[in-house]
Amino acid sequence: MFEYPRFLKVITLVQCDSTNNYLKNHYEDLRDHLPVLVTSALQTGGRGRQQRTWLSPKGKGLYSSFGFLLDTKQKLRFLPLVAGISVIEMLREITADEFVLKWPNDVLYREKKIAGVLIENIITEQKIFCITGIGINLNHTLDDFPGEFLEKAISLRIITGLEYDTGEINPFLSTVFFHWLEKLKSNEKEEIVETANRYSEFLMYRNISFHESSSGIVMEGIFKGINHDGGLILGREGGHDTIHYSGEIA
Ligand code: BTN
Repeated sequence: MFEYPRFLKVITLVQCDSTNNYLKNHYEDLRDHLPVLVTSALQTGGRGRQQRTWLSPKGKGLYSSFGFLLDTKQKLRFLPLVAGISVIEMLREITADEFVLKWPNDVLYREKKIAGVLIENIITEQKIFCITGIGINLNHTLDDFPGEFLEKAISLRIITGLEYDTGEINPFLSTVFFHWLEKLKSNEKEEIVETANRYSEFLMYRNISFHESSSGIVMEGIFKGINHDGGLILGREGGHDTIHYSGEIA
């Protein structure tokens, strides 16, 4: 049975709109008590990336957000990888199954999504307050996924047949997350990138459609891994590569 890291303040809610919003709204009260984990049994307004909704029914998923400080903007590029790697290592440890990373931070099992990460930051002159929200599908049955998600989503219960308790998963996830965050804080970026590349191996040299969020443009190319700076390397027609820092693989 895992315990929470002793330095972590844990806030357990029965319900909220979004654990990311909770951290944003309570930043002033919490800033002297960081790092903080906020976890909720259900979310009424769970949010995903690209303004999507993250359905968050009670007892089905893990809905948690870490709030902590980072000292430089340069480190922010690696945060999605840190979150994705942490979820993967935690899931691999409890199931011995093959979970993989779809850049920047989706976690997949046999090409279906089991977890997602929403990172939001409050940048002040001295510090960056980072909010890393993590959603993991734990106890969903096939009936719990609306039609359009059946093809592309999966839960731990569908994989293993077992039920999971967020009271056990959250401390484990926190321990792994702060292990990797410490590496980021102490600038061990190479290890983060190397690990993320290892977990992305399944996509290597495959054709992908990449949706760049800054321009809204969709580009076709070949996934060529993650560069030293956390960016996606897209091999383009004609043989040249482009590097991307915001967006997602379709
Ligand atoms: C994605 O689109 O893949 C990201 C999903 C992130 C969902 C989590 S659940 C906890 C936290 N609170 C939110 O409203 N969103 C994140």
